[in-house]
Amino acid sequence: MLIRQPAAIAPSEITPERVWRRRRDLVQAAAAAGVLGSAGPAFAQKPAAQRLPGKPSPLSTMEKATAYKLVTEYCNFYEFGTEKEDPPQYAPKFLKPRPWSVMVEGEVNKPRRFDIEDLLKLAPVEERVYRLRCVEAWSAVVPWVGYPLAALIKAVEPTGNAKFVEFTTLADPKQMPGLRSSVLKWPYTEGLRMDEALHPLTLLTFGLYGEVLPHQNGAPLRIVVPWKYGFKSAKSLVRVRFVEKQPVNSWQESAPHEYGFYSNVNPTVDHPRWSQATERRLGEDGLFSKRRPTLVFNGYGEQVAQLYAGMDLRKNY
Ligand code: MTE
Repeated sequence: MLIRQPAAIAPSEITPERVWRRRRDLVQAAAAAGVLGSAGPAFAQKPAAQRLPGKPSPLSTMEKATAYKLVTEYCNFYEFGTEKEDPPQYAPKFLKPRPWSVMVEGEVNKPRRFDIEDLLKLAPVEERVYRLRCVEAWSAVVPWVGYPLAALIKAVEPTGNAKFVEFTTLADPKQMPGLRSSVLKWPYTEGLRMDEALHPLTLLTFGLYGEVLPHQNGAPLRIVVPWKYGFKSAKSLVRVRFVEKQPVNSWQESAPHEYGFYSNVNPTVDHPRWSQATERRLGEDGLFSKRRPTLVFNGYGEQVAQLYAGMDLRKNY
């Protein structure tokens, strides 16, 4: 996500054409090297996606959703490579989202391993159209499908010692070629304070655009926290642990001077290497299209600002 200098994140990089061209080049290179076998690239054989419709939620933004193609072809999922086009190319080929289970443990009265099918039945899924703001200063509007993480939290009955929730995602070298790189310490971990995790906007997410999550977007389940930078939204979850002490997340561990624990979207706190005041919406990358001003808490301040009352958000970034 962030090893490149800001100058390297050229607006042209997010044009669909560039995505398409680069992918074509990668495929040609891979075909020339004989790594694809006779059947061709994984995305050429994409099976019909399984439908996962959700009841429309009043918590959705009315903003126009970003094109499905952009959301599913311009991804950050470092376990499959650091380029945006790597996850759509490699995740469908290697990641196996079934069978899948998630261990929910730590400071809870009812620790339990949930099969993905049991998790899907725990609460009715809703369609939540949320803004997603990446720390790299691009954004998207995505119709996610899921239910509040609070439903899972209540099912395991946290004890009074549960102050934070730690999320751990899959780290299987057989399924994730990007683990060969030491860009991050694997597994990818993230964390939330208990009140953030219980907030009704925090979504345990199983799908997007009425379909089960594509592999590259974090199949079979991920977290989505819309008022925080996108890296808090951990993909392909395997463990949820309730803890007393504030956990250290992967980005904070790799670059503590650049990433904090809270990571609330804040246009007034620049990343040390670039401004966070504005953003480019995926799909709005024409030569003359303007950058959008970034909104504090990504526009969700009315719902979440009270969680941080009295905190200095310049220090707690
Ligand atoms: N989760 C895992 N396991 N690995 C990652 O590299 N990248 C994060 C987040 N979740 C990441 C992850 C970042 S930086 C962003 S911006 C979002 O996923 C992107 O989600 P999307 O590709 O579905 O848009």
